[in-house]
Amino acid sequence: MAEVRAGLQDVVIATSQICSIDGQRGKLTYWGYDIHDLATNSTFEEVVYLLWHGRLPKPKQLDELHEQLAEHRAVTPEVIDLIKRLPPPQHPMEMLRTAVSALSLYDPEAEDMSPEANRHKALRLTGQMATLVAAFGRIRAGKEPISPDPKLNHAANFLYMLQGQTPRAEYARWFDVALILHADHSYNASTFTARVVASTLSDMHSAITAAIGALKGPLHGGANEQVMKMLLEIQTPDRAEPYLRNLLTQKKKVMGFGHRVYHTEDPRATVLRKMSEELGRSAGDLKWFEMSKAIEDLMIREKKINANVDFYSASAYYVLGIPVDLYPLAFAASRVSGWTAHVLEQYANNKLIRPLAEYTGPHDLKYVPMNQR
Ligand SMILES: CC(C)(COP(=O)(O)OP(=O)(O)OC[C@H]1O[C@@H](n2cnc3c(N)ncnc32)[C@H](O)[C@@H]1OP(=O)(O)O)[C@@H](O)C(=O)NCCC(=O)NCCS
Repeated sequence: MAEVRAGLQDVVIATSQICSIDGQRGKLTYWGYDIHDLATNSTFEEVVYLLWHGRLPKPKQLDELHEQLAEHRAVTPEVIDLIKRLPPPQHPMEMLRTAVSALSLYDPEAEDMSPEANRHKALRLTGQMATLVAAFGRIRAGKEPISPDPKLNHAANFLYMLQGQTPRAEYARWFDVALILHADHSYNASTFTARVVASTLSDMHSAITAAIGALKGPLHGGANEQVMKMLLEIQTPDRAEPYLRNLLTQKKKVMGFGHRVYHTEDPRATVLRKMSEELGRSAGDLKWFEMSKAIEDLMIREKKINANVDFYSASAYYVLGIPVDLYPLAFAASRVSGWTAHVLEQYANNKLIRPLAEYTGPHDLKYVPMNQR
């Protein structure tokens, strides 16, 4: 019997130049640049350029990207109308999955597989995803969607289109950092999904729609929302310990902890912890940070399991005023840059992804006619 690695754990299935994770040392790099360096010094737009081109942009290239994103951020009115006409989704990720799929029907290059057309689609999808999320947030609140402001960057635009007012500079910068941290993560489940779809030479929109489906699960991008629901249920920092002990006694997973690849602290969590604390301080309410810290300390003490990217992003997004059920969508609005970078890399050197399974079902059965069963 061939060796079976459940969940493809530790299986290396391809090479990629985009992103590397050192799970032992807790190091994450995009094209060789450390995530902490990028979070401190760059912007989401710079990171998008880096992911797509493999190098940091020169000033003129960055200006061009800003202009291109501004040009393509608006979503066609037909898709906005579609969002208005959809029944209220049970989860907003259903809306995003449907709307992104619908975008291809209005994309003039949807079926054009030339590298140039695929780069255009990567740009449009990255520009439009945040707009879709913000538009949905307003539509379901009975408000009209707000057009993007060409003067604002991607992070500020998202908060502006969602909340209807230009965000505080500090909030826009923290969200910018959150977008940088979420932009890519090597062969995570949703990126792998996108690459599987792309490997059949299906189109970019199909790959990204499938990736949204993978991200939606609570073991992946849905975890940040579950973390905030847990914090809201706990309500006060002093209730964190008994709540958590109860979960652990029941052998339940604590959302926002654990990782397939990191065996030490997730380097993104290091930045997000600081973000959660600083945002809490600036809002004059450290409750969510303190509660999170109490949970984290206990998880490390009792289970030796570290927080992942989804843990502190929850309390940070709460202060930023992002509705809790839109957290996975905010994740998607950043990760689309990484997904599209991986799809471009897949197309550039494609090999159909088609693994094997070890068959464990019955053998040599004889067909039984209907009247004899
Ligand atoms: C991310 C995750 C799916 C990785 O899964 P995995 O690599 O398949 O690891 P497992 O789920 O098999 O976990 C290994 C062990 O650690 C425990 N563990 C892992 N994450 C845990 C968590 N969040 N809470 C409690 N225990 C956890 C498991 O119960 C298991 O213990 P066991 O060996 O005694 O059965 C898993 O850690 C998890 O479900 N985390 C919560 C969801 C989450 O935050 N997802 C976002 C990831 S960025």
